[in-house]
Amino acid sequence: MRSLAGLSPEPQPVLAHPAFVKNAPLLEWVAKIARLTRPASVHWCDGSQAEYEDLCSRLVASGTFLKLNPAKRPGSYLALSDPSDVARVEDRTFICSVRKDDAGPTNNWLDPREMKRKLLPLLDGSMQGRTMYVVPFSMGPIGSPLSQAGVQITDSAYVAVSMRIMTRMGRQVLDALGTDGSFVPCLHSVGMPLAPGQGDVAWPCNKDHKYIVHFPEENAIWSFGSGYGGNALLGKKCLALRIASSMGRQQGWLAEHMLILGVESPQGRKSYVAAAFPSACGKTNFAMMIPPAAFRGWKVTTIGDDIAWIKADADGRLRAINPEYGFFGVAPGTSEKSNPNAMATLHANCIFTNVALTPDGDVWWEGMTDQPPAQLTDWQGRAWTPDCGRPAAHPNARFTVPAAQCPSIDPDWENPQGVPISAFVFGGRRSTTIPLVIQSYSWVDGVYMAATLGSETTAAATAKVGEVRRDPMAMLPFCGYHIGDYFEHWLAIGRGIEHPPRIFCVNWFRKDANGKFLWPGFGDNMRVLKWIMDRCEDRAGAMESPLGWMPRHDDLQLDGLGLTADRFAELVGLEREAWLRELDLHQELFAKLDHRLPEEFRLKRESLLVSLQRSPERWASR
Ligand code: OXD
Ligand code: MN
Repeated sequence: MRSLAGLSPEPQPVLAHPAFVKNAPLLEWVAKIARLTRPASVHWCDGSQAEYEDLCSRLVASGTFLKLNPAKRPGSYLALSDPSDVARVEDRTFICSVRKDDAGPTNNWLDPREMKRKLLPLLDGSMQGRTMYVVPFSMGPIGSPLSQAGVQITDSAYVAVSMRIMTRMGRQVLDALGTDGSFVPCLHSVGMPLAPGQGDVAWPCNKDHKYIVHFPEENAIWSFGSGYGGNALLGKKCLALRIASSMGRQQGWLAEHMLILGVESPQGRKSYVAAAFPSACGKTNFAMMIPPAAFRGWKVTTIGDDIAWIKADADGRLRAINPEYGFFGVAPGTSEKSNPNAMATLHANCIFTNVALTPDGDVWWEGMTDQPPAQLTDWQGRAWTPDCGRPAAHPNARFTVPAAQCPSIDPDWENPQGVPISAFVFGGRRSTTIPLVIQSYSWVDGVYMAATLGSETTAAATAKVGEVRRDPMAMLPFCGYHIGDYFEHWLAIGRGIEHPPRIFCVNWFRKDANGKFLWPGFGDNMRVLKWIMDRCEDRAGAMESPLGWMPRHDDLQLDGLGLTADRFAELVGLEREAWLRELDLHQELFAKLDHRLPEEFRLKRESLLVSLQRSPERWASR
C-alpha cells in the first residue's frame, strides 16, 4: 500500500493491538491514521456476538439507538439520523483517478493530490474525543476466489455494528489475511471531533463538509462527514461497486448493481438470473418474490438483493456471488403484500434507520399497513398522527438485517464458486415508452439496451426525484471509471465467453393514459421471469419487434390476471415518436463519451433509427 500523501514517512509507533492482528501493512496504516485523526481510543473489532451486543448497548446509552420492544422485534434497534444526513450524496462523491479522463463524464473528479490536500486538514484531529474502530471485513465468502478483503477505520459505532450485519466482519478476515495479505483500506470519519468536555449528539456528522472519495489506482477509499448508508458503510457502494468495478475491468470480471435470484420449476429445473435496477426500484422485492397462485410449485430463491460480482468459469459460463452478508433495504413500501419474505426476514436482529416508532416500541413506515397507526413518533422524533401532513418515515428509511434470516435464501448463497447466470435483466422506472419486456437479439444489442437504460429518479440519493435520467446498467452513481470504457468492458466480456447469458430489459412501471399502472408488479413479475427462463432454454415463443424479441399475449402465462388484449397491447406497445425521442436521448449520452463510445453502439443506434422509421406509428405484439 502506498503511504498517505502528507503524512510523515518515518516509522510509526505500533499501537497496542490484540494478538489476532498480525498483518504488518494493516498495523502500519492504522498507526498512521491514528496519528492523523487522534482518537481517544482504538478498538479492533473481532466480530463476535458479545462485541456486537456491547457496542449496541453503548449506542443505546449514547442515544443513537433506541432498543425496540424485545417481545415485538427481538434484538432490534432504531436509529434516527440527523435530518441533513439521510441519503447518498452523489454530488459529493468523487472518483480521483490520476487522469481526469479515466473518471469519465459521469463522475465527479479531482486530482488525487489536490483531494488529499483538501481532506487531510479535515481529517487532522477529526476523531478527537471518539473511539476509532478498526473493522476488518470480507466482501464475499472468506476464502472464495471471487472475494475481496477490506478494512474500514471508522469513528462511528453505528457503522461498526452495521458492517457486522452487511459484511463478514472480524477476526476470521484477519486470520485469512495473514501477516502480509492485501486489503482495501477504507477510511471513514463522521467529521465531528469532540473537544474535552463537549457532549456528543445522537447522530454525529459534518454539516458543512461531505466527501465520498475513491482513489482507483491505490484501491483506497476516504469518506468524510456522513454517517449514512452508502456514504458510510464503505464495503457496499464504495468498495463492492466503485472500487470493485475498476478492479474488475483490470482483472476481467464485473462488479454490478444487481440482485441475484434462483428460479426453480415444479419439475426441478433451476436457473439463476442477475438483474439490475436503479436504487429504490424494487430490487429487494424482486429478489424475494413469491410466485402467484397460478404458479404452483414454482420457487424463487434469493442470492442477493443489491450487488453481484461476476466472473467467467473454466467452461465459459458467467458465475456470480453476492459479496454482501446482509440487506440494507428501503423500508417504505415494504409490506406483507409487497414482500412477505422481507417482512419475515425483519422479525429480529435488525437495525432500522429513520423509520417511525409505534407506542408499543415497534416500527412502522408508509405502506407497511393499509391503515396507519393512530399515533407514532416520526423519523425526526416528533409526535405524529395520520392527519399531520408529514411522512412518518423518511422515504429513504432503511433496514439493515442479516441475509441468512431470509426465508427465501438460496442454499447456494454462500457457494464460494458462485452460481451460473443464465440471464441478465435490466429495468428502469418508466411511466411511458418502455415495454414490459424485450429480449435482445444479441449480446451487443443487449449491452446497448442496458447502457441506454433510463429511469425516473427516487429518494435513494439526494437528486431531484421523478426526473428521467440515463442510468447505464443502473451503475450511473457506482461505476468507478470512464463509462465508455465500462461499455467496452461489457462487450469484451461477451466476446470472451462461450455461453453468454441472454439479455432482457423490463419495465414494471408503465402507466396508462389515466396514470394507472398497467402491470401489477410484485409476485406477478414471476410471469415475466418464467418467460425469461423459458427463453433461455428456447422453450417460449416470441415475436420480432423493431427493438428485440417480445412476448405475444399467449407467450406469457397471464391466467388469473384479467389483463385484456388491449391493455396488454398498451403494455408492450412501441410508439415510434416516443422511441425516436428516446434515441435522441441515447445520442445525448453518447455525445458525452466522445472517442470512448464503442463503435458497435454508433452502428446499433443507426440501425435502430432505420428500423423505427420503417415501423408503424404504433407497434404491438399480439
Ligand atoms: C442502495 C442504493 O442503497 O442503490 O442500494 O442506493
Ligand atoms: Mn443499490
